[in-house]
Amino acid sequence: MNPTEGKKKKIRLLFVCLGNICRSPAAEGIMSGIVEKNGLQDIIDVDSAGTSGWHQGDLPDERMRSHGEKRGYDFCSHARKFRESDFDDFDYIIVMDENNYSSVKSLASGKDQADKIHLMTEFSVQFNYHNHIPDPYYGGSSGFELVLDLLEDACEGLLQVIKKEHSIY
Ligand code: 4NP
Repeated sequence: MNPTEGKKKKIRLLFVCLGNICRSPAAEGIMSGIVEKNGLQDIIDVDSAGTSGWHQGDLPDERMRSHGEKRGYDFCSHARKFRESDFDDFDYIIVMDENNYSSVKSLASGKDQADKIHLMTEFSVQFNYHNHIPDPYYGGSSGFELVLDLLEDACEGLLQVIKKEHSIY
């Protein structure tokens, strides 16, 4: 028997922000934790990228890492720039704000690719924060806490949507 027979393709999620050092690596870390907690690591893959390459190779912003640590997360991915091949490599491309949306959409080559792009706040359950995850980079501590609150909520909502769309029980 072919060893790959019966093996299902993974569901691949890519979180995208501007720098890939604050919001999207936090979303990646939070979602990875939720996936693991639900025992779905063989079914769902998670990654993140930035629409800019300004921080390519960098660890997440120190402030985001320390706010995350207080909640038990270890945000440790390295920044990379979003690339056109991400449209082939991922099933859900989840952006943090309207600017990220426009940047990613401008690289989409057709409806199928454009349809993969979602705003993170589409998945919010408890929060309705102006339809975006606010950029915390130039602000203070409360901005980082708000981002984590919004992301924890939206990641839980995202898992519910994925489970429903892919009949995962
Ligand atoms: P992020 O935040 O898009 O959530 O990673 C930012 C990180 C860096 C910059 C802006 C936003 N920057 O101007 O370098």
